[in-house]
Amino acid sequence: MAESKTEADTGQTLTTGQWIKQQNDLPRLDCELTLCHILEVNRASILARPERPLAARELVEINRWADALRNDIPFAYLAGEQEFWGLSLAVSPQVLVPRPETERLVESALALLQSGANILDLGTGSGAVALAIASERIDSKVTATDISAEALLVAKQNAEKLEIEVTFQESRWFENLTGRWQIIVSNPPYIDPADPHLEHLHAEPQHALIAHEKGLADLRQIIAEAPGYLDNKGWLLLEHGFDQAQQVRLLLKQSGFQAVSSHRDLANIERVSVGQYFHE
Ligand SMILES: C[S@@+](CC[C@H](N)C(=O)[O-])C[C@H]1O[C@@H](n2cnc3c(N)ncnc32)[C@H](O)[C@@H]1O
Repeated sequence: MAESKTEADTGQTLTTGQWIKQQNDLPRLDCELTLCHILEVNRASILARPERPLAARELVEINRWADALRNDIPFAYLAGEQEFWGLSLAVSPQVLVPRPETERLVESALALLQSGANILDLGTGSGAVALAIASERIDSKVTATDISAEALLVAKQNAEKLEIEVTFQESRWFENLTGRWQIIVSNPPYIDPADPHLEHLHAEPQHALIAHEKGLADLRQIIAEAPGYLDNKGWLLLEHGFDQAQQVRLLLKQSGFQAVSSHRDLANIERVSVGQYFHE
């Protein structure tokens, strides 16, 4: 694995442009954003002034970030924040970094949301999905849960900072919940423990990623139990893996859901599956 060179190693002052060129094993965007954060400038300034020299103390910090990125530490953990649905969310290694594909789950929920509806977000992590929905529909009542008290602390801090109203509750899926919701959304763990990609995801909380039964155990449990917590004609919306849509649709149908369908993300992958439940 390549390591970043310091001024002492090279005996000369590096410019930002030279430093970016040296990091040829890292994505260029990560390098530019690292410089933005450490030098406290915007990206336009990095692009416009590649001849800007790096002071020794700046180089030490920049190289520390570059080495962390080489060790698969997500950029968002280093920066302590991630943008999701236009909201700047604080993130820490206690929560999964919210991903752009999860915005599809938000879009699908907003399309089904009626005025004044109550919504439940299971496994909220940083609060991303719950806060995005609540930010769009201030007349909705959003409840967000997680099994992790540490994750809920991050989510609560995000809600306070953004001044968005969400009720948080610690719960293992539906265990501590009473009541019914018009919409239940979840982006649960869905990675097969045997998935080789996990090797590069060691910095993220493993309980947020991995589900047994080839990644389907949590999806299966939520689908089986959701009817007991949905209003008549309520909707369940689930994010899942790129190759799980067919199995999730089948599970929804087996649990009695109707109007079952899957929605594609920007990469044209079936990413979210939904179903509506009618109580007889
Ligand atoms: C894939 S992450 C999704 C986080 C966030 N909703 C997002 O989309 O960025 C899954 C979340 O589910 C939580 N979780 C895992 N198992 C759970 C369980 N049995 N009950 C409740 N939450 C659980 C994890 O702590 C994690 O925050």
